[in-house]
Amino acid sequence: MTAQIIDGKALSRQLREGFKTRVAALLEQGLTPGLAVILIGDNPASRVYVGNKVKACEECGVRSFHIALPDHTPQAELLATIARLNADPAVHGILIQLPLPPHIDGPSVLEAISVHKDVDGFHLYNVGGLVVGNTIFPPCTPYGVQLLLDTTGTEVAGKNVVVVGASNIVGKPMALMLLQREATVTICHARTRDLAQHTILADILIVAAGRPGLIVPQMVKHGAIVIDVGINRLPDGKIVGDVDFAGVREKASWITPVPGGVGPMTVTMLIENTLRSAERALRLRHADDYQEWEAPILKGA
Ligand code: GUN
Repeated sequence: MTAQIIDGKALSRQLREGFKTRVAALLEQGLTPGLAVILIGDNPASRVYVGNKVKACEECGVRSFHIALPDHTPQAELLATIARLNADPAVHGILIQLPLPPHIDGPSVLEAISVHKDVDGFHLYNVGGLVVGNTIFPPCTPYGVQLLLDTTGTEVAGKNVVVVGASNIVGKPMALMLLQREATVTICHARTRDLAQHTILADILIVAAGRPGLIVPQMVKHGAIVIDVGINRLPDGKIVGDVDFAGVREKASWITPVPGGVGPMTVTMLIENTLRSAERALRLRHADDYQEWEAPILKGA
C-alpha cells in the first residue's frame, strides 16, 4: 500500500481563501482584525516562525503588530507590554513566541495574556477548557491536525490514537482533543519503554517528538493514518519530520509530508483564532447585555 498524501499546503490555501470573506465582513463593520506577535531575543528558528506568522497576517488582511524585544528584557517590562496589548482594542490576538529566555517565568507570562486574546490557546483557562471540551481558542497545531485528519474522511470515535510526544504545545492538547472526539488515546513520551509496542496498535499515529527518523515502517500498522508534526533541520540543511516518510508511506493509508503537512496549518489556525476573536469582539460590541458573552471566570481578565 502506498499512502495518500494529506496536503496541508492545499488545505491552508483553501482556508485562507475563506478568511478573505470574513475579513471583508469585519472591515465592512468598521473592525480591522489585529494580531500582536511578541518575539524576545534572536533565536533564529523563532525569527523564521514569527516571520511566517506576520506574512500570513498580511496575506489574509489581518493587521499585525510585531514587537521585538531584546533577549535581556526584564519580566516586568514584558508584563507591561502584555498589559498594554490586553487593553488595546485594535489587538484581537496576542502571541508570545516560545521558547522564552531562561530568566522569564513562562507560566506567569502566558497567564498575563487576556483569555479573550489568547489565540495560541496556552492560557490556563483555555488549557483547562480542553479537559472539558470547551475552549475559546483551541491551540493551533493540534487544531490544524484535527482538520487534516478530517480531510481523510475518517471517523475518529473508537479509533486507537497514539500520540508520540507529551509537550504542552502539541502532544497533551492533541490527546485531549481526540479524547473529546471519543478516540482511545495513548500518549507516549521520552520515558516510554518499547515505543513500537504502542505505535504498532495505532489506527492514527501522531508524532511530535522532534527526533528525525524516530518512526520507521516496522513501528506502523498497515493502513494507519500518520501525522508528522516534527520539523527538524538536518546538518545538510534539509527539513525533515520525525517519520521515515519514504518507508512509512509504503505501509500507511494516509501520511502528511514535511514540509507541506502540519506546518502551514499551524499558522493558518492562528489566523482562524484571530478572526474568531475579532468576530467575538464585534459581537461583544453589539451585545445589549455584555454579560451574555462573559463566562464568570473571565470577568476582569
Ligand atoms: N514555539 C513553537 N511552537 C509554537 C507555537 O505554536 N506558538 C508559540 N507561541 N510558540 C511556539
